[in-house]
Amino acid sequence: MERLPGFRDFYPEPLPPTKDELWSMDARNHVFSAWRSVARRYGFREYDGPPLEPLELYTNKSGEEIVGQLFNFEDKGGRLVALRPEMTPTLARMAAAHEHAYKKPLKWFSVPQLFRYEKQQKGRKREHFQFNADIVGESDPAADAELIALLIDSLRALGLGEQDFVVRLSSRGAWQQFVERRAIPPEKAYGFFQIVDKLERERPAVTTQKLAELGVTLAELESFISSGEPTPELRAILDNLAARGLAAFVRLDYRVIRGLAYYTGPVFEAFDIKGEFRAIAGGGRYDQLLKQVSGGKVDLPALGFGMGDVVLTELLKSRGLIPRFTAGLRAYVLIEDETLRRESLAVVQRLRDAGVAVDYPLTPTKSDKQFKRALELAAASTVRLERGDDGTVQSRVKDLTTRTEWIVGRDEVLACLKAEAV
Ligand code: HAM
Repeated sequence: MERLPGFRDFYPEPLPPTKDELWSMDARNHVFSAWRSVARRYGFREYDGPPLEPLELYTNKSGEEIVGQLFNFEDKGGRLVALRPEMTPTLARMAAAHEHAYKKPLKWFSVPQLFRYEKQQKGRKREHFQFNADIVGESDPAADAELIALLIDSLRALGLGEQDFVVRLSSRGAWQQFVERRAIPPEKAYGFFQIVDKLERERPAVTTQKLAELGVTLAELESFISSGEPTPELRAILDNLAARGLAAFVRLDYRVIRGLAYYTGPVFEAFDIKGEFRAIAGGGRYDQLLKQVSGGKVDLPALGFGMGDVVLTELLKSRGLIPRFTAGLRAYVLIEDETLRRESLAVVQRLRDAGVAVDYPLTPTKSDKQFKRALELAAASTVRLERGDDGTVQSRVKDLTTRTEWIVGRDEVLACLKAEAV
C-alpha cells in the first residue's frame, strides 16, 4: 500500500538509502524546536485549533485559489467541512471568540499541519507544517516590524544569514491606491491583485492581456513597482527593523502583493537570495478578518505570517545546515553475562530515573552484536557489569570516542558517566 501523492512519511535517522522520497523526523523536530524557541523569545504564546473546520470558514475569506485546493467533504452529520488549508481563519475565529479574556495585543503562535490539494510541483505538497505567528489588536506598524523581526530571527536560529534570504516588503494599501487612481472597479480589485501576484510566474503576454481588460498596461504596472517609494507605514517598519540592526534582511519590493484575499495593509514574503526555491514564508496585515469571521461582533486589527517546513527544509539541506541526528544515547548497557541481567536492568532503570538516555539488548545477544549496536546507535559510552574474582559485581564504563575505560562499583555508574561528560 502506497502513501497518497503529496503526503510525506517522516522516518528517524539515519534514513534508509532509497529512491523513495523520505523525510527526516529528526530534521522536522529540529526545525520545530527552533520555531518554538524563537517565538517564545519574542513573548509569543502557543495555541492550536481543530484540523477540521466548517467549509464556510474558508469560502469568501481566503480567496479562490485556496478554496479551489480544499480537501472538503460532507461529514456523517451532513455538515460541509474542510481540512484546514491555512491557520489564519482558525486563529481569527478563536481570537474573536475569547478576545475579552486576553490583554491586547495578543501574540500567539502555532505549528499546525495544513492540507491543500495542490498540483504536484517542487516545494509544494498536499500537506505541510506551517509556523504561524500572529499579533491581534495592534494597528501600529511597530507590530508589523516585530513580526518581520521574528521571521528573520527564526531563519537565523537555523543558521541562515543575510547571504541566504531576504524579506520582500510591500503593501496592499499602496496597491489599493493604485487601483483607486486607475479607477479599477472595487469588485475587480482582488482580480487585479491576483494578476500582480502572478507577475513573476506568468508569461508577459498573458499578463498584458489580463491587464488590458482592466484598462491598465504592463508598463504602468512596472513603473509603479520600480518607483519603489515606501508608504509612511512601510518607512516606519523599515526604520524599526534598522534600529534592531536587521535592515540588511529586508527590501522594499512592490512585486509582492500576496494571493490570499484578506490582506489589507503591509504584506511580505521571504525568499532565498538565489531564487532557487518558492517563498519560504509569507504574511501581512488583515485588519478586517476578525470582523468578518465574527459576523461584525469583534473588530480588531491583526497581522501575521506563515512559514512552511517544506521549502525551509530543502533550503537548509542545500546549505548543509541540517545536523546529523542520532538516538542521543548517553550509554548502551551491554549484557554479556546473562546471570547479570537483573542487576543490569537495575542499573538501566537507575540511570533512566536520573534522566540519562540509555538503551540495552532486550534479549540475549552475542557480545560483538551488542557492541556493534552501541556504535550504530552512536551511544557516547558503554556500561558492562561483570563479576570480579571475589564475586562482587563491578561495572566497566567505556567512552566510545576516546576508548578510555573505568572500572567502578555497581552504584557508581551514574557518577562516572556524569564525571566523564564534564
Ligand atoms: P501562504 O503564503 O499560503 O500564507 O503560506 C505560507 C507559506 O507556507 C508559504 O510561503 C510556503 O512556504 C508554505 N506553503 C504554503 N502552501 C504549501 C504547500 N502546499 N506545500 C508546502 N508549503 C506550503 C498563508 O497560509 C497565510 N495564512 C499566512 C499568514 C498567517 N498570514 C497571516 N498570518
